[in-house]
Parts: sequence; C-alpha cells; structure tokens
Amino acid sequence: MADFDPRPRRSVAFIGSECYPFVKTGGLGDVMYALPRALARQNCDVKVILPRYRCIPWKYQEKMIYRGEFHMDLCQDGRSFYVGIMEYVWDGVVYDFIDNEEFFSSGNPYTNLVDDIPKFCFFSKAALAALNYMNWVPDVIHCHDWQAALVPVFLRTMFAGTPVGDAKTVLTIHNLRFQGVYNIPTIQYWTNLPDYVFNKDALKQGYEDANMLKGGLDYADRITTVSHTYAGEIQTPFYGENLDAHLRYHSGKLRGIVNGIDCDIWNTWTDGRLAVQYDITNVLDRKRQNKRALQQELGLWQDDHVFVIGLISRLTDQKGLDLVNAILPELMDGHTQVVVLGTGDEHYENAFRYYEDAYRGSVCSNIMYDEGRAHRIYAGADALLVPSLFEPCGLTQLIAMRYGTVPIVRETGGLKDTVQPYNHYTNDGNGFTFDRYDAGLLLDAVNRAKTLYFTNRWCWDEMVQRDMDKDVSWDQSASQYRDLYLELKP
Ligand code: ADP
Ligand code: GLC
Repeated sequence: MADFDPRPRRSVAFIGSECYPFVKTGGLGDVMYALPRALARQNCDVKVILPRYRCIPWKYQEKMIYRGEFHMDLCQDGRSFYVGIMEYVWDGVVYDFIDNEEFFSSGNPYTNLVDDIPKFCFFSKAALAALNYMNWVPDVIHCHDWQAALVPVFLRTMFAGTPVGDAKTVLTIHNLRFQGVYNIPTIQYWTNLPDYVFNKDALKQGYEDANMLKGGLDYADRITTVSHTYAGEIQTPFYGENLDAHLRYHSGKLRGIVNGIDCDIWNTWTDGRLAVQYDITNVLDRKRQNKRALQQELGLWQDDHVFVIGLISRLTDQKGLDLVNAILPELMDGHTQVVVLGTGDEHYENAFRYYEDAYRGSVCSNIMYDEGRAHRIYAGADALLVPSLFEPCGLTQLIAMRYGTVPIVRETGGLKDTVQPYNHYTNDGNGFTFDRYDAGLLLDAVNRAKTLYFTNRWCWDEMVQRDMDKDVSWDQSASQYRDLYLELKP
C-alpha cells in the first residue's frame, strides 16, 4: 500500500504532444507517461491531455470512451473547428484525447512546420476549452515544450475570466532547440490572439516572426527544465538557441528538476523482452547470457569476452553522432562490438549502415524504432554511449545504469547531473565522462572504460552493481514537482 502523503491533494492537467504507450518519438513521451503516474502515487489528481492522433494503436483507441464534443472558434476570420473528447482511464491517471481528424490524421505526430503550427495552435486552445467543457479546473496546468507553449498565453488572454482561468501554469522545456517559430500573420491567423501578445517581450522574435515557446515562457507562472545543469546552460548563448537573454530575464521563475525513469517498465527482474531476467545479485552472470542472446539476435560474432557498446538514440546532431562516426574505425580492435539502434537524419543512418557493412560481425546498425530491441540492447551491452552536443536530461543513460550497463557520456545537461565519473583512486562513480565536444576525448573516455573492463574486471563489476543500485526513479523528482505545485497553489 502507498505511504500516506501528508501534503494536501493537488490537481494537475498535463498538456503535451506525446505520451508512451500511445505515441512516442523520444523522451518527452516517457516523461508524459511516468511523471503523472508518479504524481498520482503522491496524492495528486492527474489528467493528461493529448491529441488523438490517428497513429495511436487501435488497441488503445478501442478502449477510449466518448466524453463529448463542441465547436471552438479558432481563426482570425472566425473559422471554427470540431473538438471531440475521448477518455481513457488507466492506473489512476485520466487521459483525455482531443479529437479532430483535420489536424491529427497524419501518420506521425510531427510532420512539417506548415502543418504543425496550426495543429498545435488548435491543440493548445482546444485543451483549455476541453477543461472548461468537462468542468474540471485543475490547480495547475503543466505544459510541455513548444507544442503546448501557447496554453499559458491563451489562458491569460482569451480564457481569463473563464473557470479554467484560475489555474496556475508550469511550462517545462524538454528541448529548447524546437520552439515553434513562424511569421506573425500566420500565428495570428491560427490563434486570433490579441495584438499585444505579439510584442517583443512575449511572442515576437526579430522583425516578423512569432515564437510560440518564447510567448509561453513569458506567460507561464513557472518554467522548469529537465536538469539543473541544463537550466543554467540555456541561459548562455551556446545552449540558449537565441532565447538565452529571454531566459536570463525570466531566471527568477526558472528551475531544473531532473527526470527519472519508470522502474516498472525498466525492471530487469520482470522485463519479459529479455533473454533472461536478472537483478543485482546475479547480474554478472546473466548479463553475459543477455549479451550472447543479443549477439545471436543481431548476427554478431558470439563471444562473451568482447566489449559491447550500445547506442540508442534519435540520429540527429544533438546526439554527438559525428564524434561517434569519427572514432568508430578506431574502436574496431577485434575485442569490441558496436550496436546502434535509431532513426533520424539520413546521413547518420547511411554512415552507420556503411560501418555495419565495413565491419560485419562487429558492428550492427539497426536503423529502426524498436522498443523490444532497445530493452535487449540495454541488457546485453556492457556500455552505452551518449556523447551529446547538448542533452536537456537524457533517459538512455538512466535506463542503462538501471540495467547494469555503464554509461559513457559527455558532461553536459542531465548527463552531467546523473553520471558521476569513475574515480580509479577511490573506485567510485557510475560511468565514464569527457567534457569538451571533441572526438579525441570521446575516444579517450571509451578507452578508459575498455581498460578498466579488460584489466580490472573486479572494479568494473562493482560499478555495474553500483549502477543498478542507483536511484533513477521518479520518486524524488515527482516530489519536487509536487512541491512546486503547492508553492503555486498554497
Ligand atoms: P530524446 O528525448 O532526446 O530522444 P531521451 O534519452 O530523453 O532522448 O529519450 C529517448 C527515449 O527513446 C528512450 O526511452 C530510448 O530508449 C528511446 N529510443 C530512442 N531511439 C529508439 C529506437 N530507435 N528504438 C526504441 N527506443 C528508442
Ligand atoms: C528531450 C531531451 C532529452 C530529455 C527528454 C525528456 O527530448 O532531448 O534530453 O530527456 O526531452 O525530458
């Protein structure tokens, strides 16, 4: 039974563009799933509001229950749109899906800005209208990334004086690179927001553009981002994506709360996708079995003694893949294998395909999105590479540690906050790190890892166990969000 939480009950509406298992393209989907559940365990009443994309698997669509429908004015010329509400209740969390075929029928949640801008203008306003329609006024509305960034703007303008106008808002930045920028007339058309929000302190950017995230940051009561280090980094020009000055201006309401992972999904003892389940007492032996099974599944040379490096990632510039490409040939020493899982930019996909061809049996590039395979790589690899250029939090290094796989990361954002570098004098730490964005330093970090693995297995194995033992759950961070909500609504 859950422990009694003496803090008063708070209600919160999560608004965002993706949520595992309905639709996920990256870590945002994981957070939208796991954080509401963790909050529900901490005496919060949580509703998650999502678009009802057609690509949501039928097994979920068929369980949704019709909650109602209405028409909503949206555009400057008075065009209005159908808003349907479909509900799905699961494990203490209520999911309300905003239905509209015109906006949500493509195969992917994100397509191109021309379509995505109207889609998320509609979604942000419809989410608030749906809360009023359902007569459910939360204490706090917690919005995520640019796709929901107009929520605080709509709330303090068009929805002021309506029931939902009493709610406070939190806007979480999961990735500052994406901001929802388009010319002012287009966003004005799709929102019909008053002229004054298009001023330089709110939505306006440069001479003629409107930036949805920038507007949201201005109107939100609190801003959070997904690690402490990233909260500092985004106030500097290098990481600030042109919003560093705006964020410095709002720094009084900005804070970093590090992500966790869902320890029921990521549980080596119950994970049905693995060749063999394991826990901290038998990890050393059973990880070897998982490594064997992985090598077999992927057509790699089967050998317990090689060092298997995993990389599970969107294949984009953010993830430091040019560094990986630069050093990959140098990793091929006959004792090392590399397993890649990811999709994204074509030139990275092709580079990894090339390496698979060039080093058949030692490199396997899985250019695909596959949850099951991800689980088996986390379990079967010895180390996981996350050399990101920037990383707001990063979940793969957390999952890796939970699976007893040692992370090799660049010291940026959440990677810096969650991976303590190995210290060979004191024999503590969780992984291997490097600081400057430099291929030579990445190679050096991998070589340090390999040296420990091949020459001092006892210390390596201790680190594996330390990593499995580390608390990477949501408990602590959910509690910090909970306190933030209480601060906003004492
Ligand atoms: P980001 O959100 O920037 O993509 P995160 O590290 O926060 O990075 O989250 C990535 C999530 O997506 C993790 O749960 C990871 O396991 C998963 N993931 C990434 N690529 C794939 C893939 N090709 N197949 C399966 N899962 C993937
Ligand atoms: C973003 C970031 C990633 C973070 C995730 C969830 O996609 O790139 O670092 O872990 O959001 O917050």
